Amino acid sequence: MRLLVTGGAGYVGSVVAAQLVEAGHEVTVLDDLSTGHEDAVPEGARFVKANITEASDALDGMDAVLHFAAKSLVGESVAEPGLYWASNLGATLALLDAMRDKGVGRIVFSSTAATYGEPERSPIEEGDPTRPTNPYGATKLAVDTTLSAFARMRGLGAVSLRYFNVAGAYGRYRERHTVETHLIPNVLKVATGERESVSVFGTDYPTQDGTCVRDYIHVADLARAHLLALEAITPGEHKIYNLGSGTGFSVQEVISVCREVTGHEIPAVVGERRPGDPAVLVASSAKIQRELGWKAERASLHEIVSDAWGALSRNA
Ligand code: UFG
Repeated sequence: MRLLVTGGAGYVGSVVAAQLVEAGHEVTVLDDLSTGHEDAVPEGARFVKANITEASDALDGMDAVLHFAAKSLVGESVAEPGLYWASNLGATLALLDAMRDKGVGRIVFSSTAATYGEPERSPIEEGDPTRPTNPYGATKLAVDTTLSAFARMRGLGAVSLRYFNVAGAYGRYRERHTVETHLIPNVLKVATGERESVSVFGTDYPTQDGTCVRDYIHVADLARAHLLALEAITPGEHKIYNLGSGTGFSVQEVISVCREVTGHEIPAVVGERRPGDPAVLVASSAKIQRELGWKAERASLHEIVSDAWGALSRNA
């Protein structure tokens, strides 16, 4: 297929673009490089440096769009909600209109566990209430709502994938945010000497060891789900799937595994809770397993951390 990958110079987008090229698709990456890196665009993909509000020309002749380009920091979204509504909802509406004008009727969208907010039960299923606790989650939920409406009204075929905690690396493609807020890369930065210690945000949560529990999914497994989603698109339908490995690990457990993998003592300093963090976020991925035959193949936290560490130390 001829595919437009928005945000394909970012972490998840670059891994999906690489897997699409490997699978024989004709891939164009569209990215404004506001947070992405041009050298993350895979060999064999065409690159267009542009914002998604300027995607019209790049959409000519495309069979589908995989839409990753977005602002994705929870804390920043609380500080600058307008930026998040404009970038995540406003610009996506422009992209969807350009797709309609160019007759491109298929989209796979990067949604998030943040659409659910504080869950009532665990693991979270797709039909559970969506009550985002921050503007990031709210803007992603607004796009999901738009996709459902456009599927009904315009015959759009859409699949939203709600990511839980993505980590790990795929070959040379790894996480490298200028502002790093995520747990695993921050812990590994202690092992490379870039940081002196890692902060543990709260030890008084109602969990086994008092630290937050998250569902970590290997970026290669996550990316593979996009290729299945692409095949599953049905005109006039909007399908939503959670993507996690189904197992929760606490912040303390993550730090322990990082110590094992790196052989570094990784000092940890207990700090205050980070505002807006739910105690436990674990996905039920039963629906995508049942309907698309997807399964996490690299569900061990050890393997996820080892791959992240391997890619980081090769580039250090
Ligand atoms: N944490 C620390 N120290 C750090 C960084 C994080 O203790 O230096 C803790 C956080 O408080 C949280 C856990 O580690 O309890 C995981 O935090 P991350 O920032 O790695 O990930 P989040 O669970 O906050 O966020 C992820 C995605 C978001 C998405 C969210 C959905 O990164 O984009 O899951 O719930 F919105």
